Amino acid sequence: MESPAIYPGSFDPVTCGHMDLIHRARKVFPRLVVAVAINIHKKTMFTVEERVDMLLEALCDQPGVEVDSFSGLLVDYARQRGANIILRGLRALSDFENEFQMAHMNRRLAPNLETFFMMTGQEHFYVSSQTVKEVAYFNGDISGLVPDVVIRRLRAKNGQLAGFSK
Ligand code: PNS
Repeated sequence: MESPAIYPGSFDPVTCGHMDLIHRARKVFPRLVVAVAINIHKKTMFTVEERVDMLLEALCDQPGVEVDSFSGLLVDYARQRGANIILRGLRALSDFENEFQMAHMNRRLAPNLETFFMMTGQEHFYVSSQTVKEVAYFNGDISGLVPDVVIRRLRAKNGQLAGFSK
Protein backbone atom coordinates (compact mmCIF):
# COMPACT_ATOMS: atom_id res chain seq x y z
CA MET A 1 0.00 0.00 0.00
CA GLU A 2 1.19 3.54 -0.81
CA SER A 3 2.82 5.33 2.12
CA PRO A 4 0.62 8.13 3.47
CA ALA A 5 1.38 11.82 3.84
CA ILE A 6 0.78 13.03 7.38
CA TYR A 7 -1.07 16.28 8.02
CA PRO A 8 -0.45 16.93 11.73
CA GLY A 9 -1.92 19.64 13.89
CA SER A 10 -3.76 20.52 17.06
CA PHE A 11 -7.09 20.98 15.22
CA ASP A 12 -8.56 22.65 18.31
CA PRO A 13 -10.96 22.84 16.50
CA VAL A 14 -10.73 22.07 12.79
CA THR A 15 -11.46 25.15 10.66
CA CYS A 16 -12.57 25.65 7.06
CA GLY A 17 -8.94 26.55 6.34
CA HIS A 18 -7.86 23.07 7.44
CA MET A 19 -10.71 21.50 5.48
CA ASP A 20 -9.76 23.40 2.33
CA LEU A 21 -6.20 22.18 2.66
CA ILE A 22 -7.30 18.57 3.19
CA HIS A 23 -9.54 18.66 0.10
CA ARG A 24 -6.77 20.09 -2.04
CA ALA A 25 -4.14 17.75 -0.61
CA ARG A 26 -6.28 14.73 -1.47
CA LYS A 27 -5.77 15.51 -5.14
CA VAL A 28 -2.00 15.38 -4.65
CA PHE A 29 -1.54 12.63 -2.06
CA PRO A 30 -3.49 9.39 -2.62
CA ARG A 31 -3.35 8.64 1.11
CA LEU A 32 -3.54 11.34 3.74
CA VAL A 33 -3.53 10.87 7.50
CA VAL A 34 -4.88 13.83 9.43
CA ALA A 35 -3.07 13.40 12.74
CA VAL A 36 -4.36 15.14 15.85
CA ALA A 37 -1.56 15.90 18.29
CA ILE A 38 -1.96 15.01 21.94
CA ASN A 39 0.16 17.69 23.54
CA ILE A 40 0.30 17.59 27.31
CA HIS A 41 1.99 21.00 27.36
CA LYS A 42 -0.69 22.74 25.31
CA LYS A 43 -4.02 23.56 26.93
CA THR A 44 -6.73 22.71 24.42
CA MET A 45 -10.41 23.57 24.54
CA PHE A 46 -11.40 20.16 23.15
CA THR A 47 -10.14 16.74 24.19
CA VAL A 48 -8.31 14.69 21.62
CA GLU A 49 -11.40 12.47 21.21
CA GLU A 50 -13.57 15.52 20.55
CA ARG A 51 -11.08 16.91 18.02
CA VAL A 52 -10.92 13.56 16.20
CA ASP A 53 -14.73 13.26 16.26
CA MET A 54 -15.22 16.71 14.75
CA LEU A 55 -12.75 15.93 11.97
CA LEU A 56 -14.45 12.60 11.25
CA GLU A 57 -17.87 14.22 11.05
CA ALA A 58 -16.64 17.13 8.93
CA LEU A 59 -14.82 14.82 6.53
CA CYS A 60 -17.64 12.26 6.32
CA ASP A 61 -15.60 9.35 5.01
CA GLN A 62 -13.57 11.04 2.30
CA PRO A 63 -11.84 8.26 0.40
CA GLY A 64 -8.09 8.24 0.98
CA VAL A 65 -8.32 10.33 4.15
CA GLU A 66 -7.85 8.85 7.62
CA VAL A 67 -8.07 10.61 10.97
CA ASP A 68 -5.77 9.48 13.76
CA SER A 69 -4.11 10.91 16.87
CA PHE A 70 -0.57 10.74 18.14
CA SER A 71 1.53 11.68 21.12
CA GLY A 72 5.26 12.18 21.34
CA LEU A 73 7.44 13.23 18.46
CA LEU A 74 5.88 13.68 15.07
CA VAL A 75 8.90 12.07 13.40
CA ASP A 76 8.40 8.90 15.48
CA TYR A 77 4.73 8.79 14.57
CA ALA A 78 5.57 9.29 10.88
CA ARG A 79 8.10 6.46 11.04
CA GLN A 80 5.56 4.21 12.73
CA ARG A 81 3.04 4.99 9.95
CA GLY A 82 5.61 4.39 7.21
CA ALA A 83 5.22 8.00 6.01
CA ASN A 84 7.92 10.11 4.46
CA ILE A 85 5.92 13.29 3.87
CA ILE A 86 4.65 15.80 6.42
CA LEU A 87 2.14 18.32 5.12
CA ARG A 88 1.65 21.73 6.69
CA GLY A 89 -0.45 24.70 5.69
CA LEU A 90 0.94 28.23 5.46
CA ARG A 91 -1.30 31.22 5.92
CA ALA A 92 0.58 34.46 6.33
CA LEU A 93 4.22 35.36 6.76
CA SER A 94 3.71 35.10 10.51
CA ASP A 95 3.38 31.30 10.21
CA PHE A 96 6.69 31.03 8.43
CA GLU A 97 9.19 31.31 11.26
CA ASN A 98 7.62 28.61 13.38
CA GLU A 99 7.10 26.32 10.38
CA PHE A 100 10.67 26.87 9.23
CA GLN A 101 11.97 25.89 12.68
CA MET A 102 9.74 22.83 12.90
CA ALA A 103 10.61 21.62 9.41
CA HIS A 104 14.33 21.92 10.10
CA MET A 105 14.10 20.27 13.50
CA ASN A 106 12.10 17.41 12.00
CA ARG A 107 14.61 17.07 9.16
CA ARG A 108 17.44 16.90 11.68
CA LEU A 109 15.61 14.19 13.61
CA ALA A 110 14.53 12.27 10.51
CA PRO A 111 16.51 13.25 7.38
CA ASN A 112 14.31 11.20 5.04
CA LEU A 113 11.12 12.88 6.15
CA GLU A 114 10.24 15.82 3.87
CA THR A 115 7.93 18.65 4.88
CA PHE A 116 5.64 19.93 2.14
CA PHE A 117 3.80 23.23 2.47
CA MET A 118 0.57 24.25 0.84
CA MET A 119 -0.76 27.78 0.91
CA THR A 120 -4.08 28.13 2.68
CA GLY A 121 -6.89 29.22 0.35
CA GLN A 122 -7.08 33.02 0.17
CA GLU A 123 -10.55 33.14 1.70
CA HIS A 124 -9.15 31.41 4.80
CA PHE A 125 -5.94 33.38 5.32
CA TYR A 126 -7.15 35.11 8.45
CA VAL A 127 -8.91 32.11 9.99
CA SER A 128 -7.28 30.33 12.92
CA SER A 129 -8.65 27.97 15.57
CA GLN A 130 -7.68 30.56 18.15
CA THR A 131 -9.59 33.49 16.63
CA VAL A 132 -12.62 31.31 15.92
CA LYS A 133 -12.75 30.22 19.58
CA GLU A 134 -12.53 33.81 20.72
CA VAL A 135 -15.27 35.05 18.40
CA ALA A 136 -17.48 32.11 19.40
CA TYR A 137 -16.85 32.77 23.06
CA PHE A 138 -18.34 36.24 22.68
CA ASN A 139 -21.21 34.89 20.56
CA GLY A 140 -19.89 36.38 17.32
CA ASP A 141 -20.80 34.88 13.94
CA ILE A 142 -18.47 32.04 12.97
CA SER A 143 -20.57 30.59 10.16
CA GLY A 144 -18.47 29.76 7.12
CA LEU A 145 -15.28 29.75 9.19
CA VAL A 146 -15.62 26.25 10.67
CA PRO A 147 -17.62 23.14 9.70
CA ASP A 148 -21.19 22.96 11.08
CA VAL A 149 -20.25 20.27 13.60
CA VAL A 150 -17.72 22.67 15.13
CA ILE A 151 -20.29 25.45 15.41
CA ARG A 152 -22.54 23.07 17.36
CA ARG A 153 -19.70 21.84 19.59
CA LEU A 154 -18.48 25.37 20.30
CA ARG A 155 -21.98 26.44 21.26
CA ALA A 156 -22.28 23.44 23.59
CA LYS A 157 -18.86 24.13 25.09
CA ASN A 158 -19.67 27.78 25.68
CA GLY A 159 -22.96 26.69 27.24
CA GLN A 160 -21.01 24.55 29.70
CA LEU A 161 -18.77 27.50 30.47
CA ALA A 162 -21.70 29.85 31.08
CA GLY A 163 -21.74 30.83 34.70
CA PHE A 164 -17.96 30.91 34.93
CA SER A 165 -16.33 34.30 34.67
CA LYS A 166 -15.20 35.16 31.11
O1 PNS B 1 -1.74 22.97 14.76
P1 PNS B 1 -0.42 23.22 15.42
O2 PNS B 1 -0.61 23.49 16.92
O3 PNS B 1 0.36 24.31 14.73
O4 PNS B 1 0.43 21.86 15.28
C1 PNS B 1 1.73 21.78 15.78
C2 PNS B 1 2.21 20.31 15.79
C3 PNS B 1 1.23 19.46 16.57
C4 PNS B 1 2.29 19.79 14.37
C5 PNS B 1 3.62 20.28 16.46
O5 PNS B 1 3.57 20.89 17.69
C6 PNS B 1 4.14 18.85 16.61
O6 PNS B 1 4.59 18.26 15.68
N1 PNS B 1 4.07 18.32 17.85
C7 PNS B 1 4.53 16.99 18.15
C8 PNS B 1 5.82 17.05 19.01
C9 PNS B 1 7.03 17.22 18.13
O7 PNS B 1 7.34 16.41 17.27
N2 PNS B 1 7.75 18.32 18.35
C10 PNS B 1 8.95 18.63 17.61
C11 PNS B 1 8.65 19.45 16.35
S1 PNS B 1 9.67 20.84 16.36
